[in-house]
Amino acid sequence: MYEIVAKERLAPVTTLLRVHAPEIARKARPGQFVITMVSDHGERIPLTLGDWDVADGTVELVFQQVGKTTTHLGTLEAGDRLYALTGPLGRPTRIENYGTVVCVGGGVGVAAVYPIARALYHAGNRVHTVMGCRSRDLIFWEDKMAALTDTPIVCTDDGSYKRKALVTEPLGEVLEKGGVDMVWAIGPAIMMKFSVATCKRYNTPVTVSLNAVMVDGTGMCGACRVEVAGETRFSCVDGPEFDGHLVNWDLLLDRQRLYQSKEKQALELFREHQCQCGSEQKEHVHEPA
Ligand SMILES: Cc1cc2nc3c(=O)[nH]c(=O)nc-3n(C[C@H](O)[C@H](O)[C@H](O)COP(=O)(O)OP(=O)(O)OC[C@H]3O[C@@H](n4cnc5c(N)ncnc54)[C@H](O)[C@@H]3O)c2cc1C
Ligand code: FES
Repeated sequence: MYEIVAKERLAPVTTLLRVHAPEIARKARPGQFVITMVSDHGERIPLTLGDWDVADGTVELVFQQVGKTTTHLGTLEAGDRLYALTGPLGRPTRIENYGTVVCVGGGVGVAAVYPIARALYHAGNRVHTVMGCRSRDLIFWEDKMAALTDTPIVCTDDGSYKRKALVTEPLGEVLEKGGVDMVWAIGPAIMMKFSVATCKRYNTPVTVSLNAVMVDGTGMCGACRVEVAGETRFSCVDGPEFDGHLVNWDLLLDRQRLYQSKEKQALELFREHQCQCGSEQKEHVHEPA
């Protein structure tokens, strides 16, 4: 059982949990993730390691409440415990001095790109950052990202904060100026797909972190299979980072939608149970069968 030592609401649907997990904190590297189970009846979900502190023995998970399990996770408070937490999983980001890099984070993807941008910065790269969200209330870690660059770019789809644009627009402008050696783009699959298309126009390499549906996270079940360079790869053990130019995006997007009706049903059942039990009685939030 892994104790939650702190909880912070970063945005109305975005939560940070700091969890006591010294073994994971000790081994964590940028680009890696964990698989957690909220309760013994719950499903496993992957979450990126947003940050970690070896001295404290804690890791930070930042998640958006999009469905049943993340909604359940959002009901936990400091002092509560996660049933399971496995990691660090996945191949770490290859951190080296590339020269000039651009780190693009879309939505909750900012939490995933931040430790990568920080490590690239400390490795001597000149870092440009681009972060984008649908609207102002979804922005978080603007200060942490800005500390790594002299060119922080923040945009919102609806123009409610800073620049009104999708991340691909400022990314294209930075690439247009030239001199960029490498791009990281992390966020929703559709955002990564179009960021890759932008990089292709400027003939620039781009690394993405694929959010394929995962179950065991150890290469045993095949749930996370993706197509890269025409070959099947398991995102959990071969990734989650891949060369964005080689990913079959349409297949990834199709596979992400595979369980949509069941996911909707699970969330509805979970909310029904929450209402019946009373939201203040967290421990009585049952996992619907
Ligand atoms: C390597 C990796 C790292 C991730 N890191 C983060 C993170 O740091 N923060 C964050 O908010 N989200 C992250 N995600 C996505 C997160 O795992 C899903 O949002 C979560 O599983 C949704 O579960 P749910 O029950 O709340 O929603 P559901 O309603 O069940 O699902 C909503 C959508 O989330 C995706 N999803 C559902 N189940 C899984 C699963 N088992 N594995 C992967 N995707 C799933 C599907 O695309 C689905 O349509 C990551 C995904 C991967 C693969
Ligand atoms: S999640 Fe099972 S093989 Fe990757």
